[in-house]
Amino acid sequence: MVQLAAGKVVFVTGGASGIGRAAAIEFSVESAAHVVVADIDVEGAEATVVAMRGSGSSVQLDVTDDDAVAEAIDQIVNEHGRIDIAFNNAGINDVPHQFHDLPVERWDRMLDVNLGSVYSCMRHELRHMASAGRGAIINTSSGAGIVAAPGLPHYTAAKHGVIGLSKAAAQEYARQGIRVNAVLPGSTDTTMLQNFIAGDEGMASIIAKSNIRGELIRPEAVAAAVVWLGSDHAGMVNGQSLVVDGGGLVR
Ligand SMILES: NC(=O)c1ccc[n+]([C@@H]2O[C@H](COP(=O)([O-])OP(=O)(O)OC[C@H]3O[C@@H](n4cnc5c(N)ncnc54)[C@H](O)[C@@H]3O)[C@@H](O)[C@H]2O)c1
Repeated sequence: MVQLAAGKVVFVTGGASGIGRAAAIEFSVESAAHVVVADIDVEGAEATVVAMRGSGSSVQLDVTDDDAVAEAIDQIVNEHGRIDIAFNNAGINDVPHQFHDLPVERWDRMLDVNLGSVYSCMRHELRHMASAGRGAIINTSSGAGIVAAPGLPHYTAAKHGVIGLSKAAAQEYARQGIRVNAVLPGSTDTTMLQNFIAGDEGMASIIAKSNIRGELIRPEAVAAAVVWLGSDHAGMVNGQSLVVDGGGLVR
């Protein structure tokens, strides 16, 4: 059977938990040569490495620190010779606010973590991928990248921005053998979503019903799409936004 990540050197941010953890594990199941799991939560990142089958390592990284991002990515290339696939996935959510009541600090923090960090990761990844003449980047957007998430204008704007960044880079680097796509999960059963629901049965029910099958998406289902987007099987898929929500956003 074809292994979708065979021989690839992979970088995953937000790999301590949820979708990032599931993706790191799936890349290793699909025979990646090495998976670097980056997260601000280094213990969680290390636990992901332990759960993986193949070769992997963890690195403590705050993705909003551009110098630290550059250093982490340079180190991967120094140690492994290349970076083949990058999954820029670390992110945060927030409690809902009415648009005009959203504190500016929350706007700034959201844009830093959920959009600025993606730009930062991409520019350092692309530097290496462009000189190698190949590579695949997958950025985590959201259903909120194409429709507004109620009460979350900052999350909505950041996730729309991730799609824009992905398209811009896809267009610019296609001739250099690099593909850049976005994955757009629906409501996925992770720590982020459970914190958002936080024991609120009403909210839990609204979110579950927002998925067309009436249930939360498993992180592994998103991970499977991510690994495919990173693989040579998706070799002609570039600049696209792949919604993984069971069909809920079909209009
Ligand atoms: N869970 C959902 O329903 C859902 C839906 C759509 C999109 N997403 C997106 O998926 C991505 C992963 O979220 P998840 O649901 O797996 O959540 P999660 O909370 O389980 O995982 C997010 C990870 O990002 C890490 N992180 C946060 N800030 C960081 C920083 N500054 N530097 C490094 N790491 C940092 C966290 O420590 C955590 O391990 C996020 O970008 C999120 O916006 C999630």
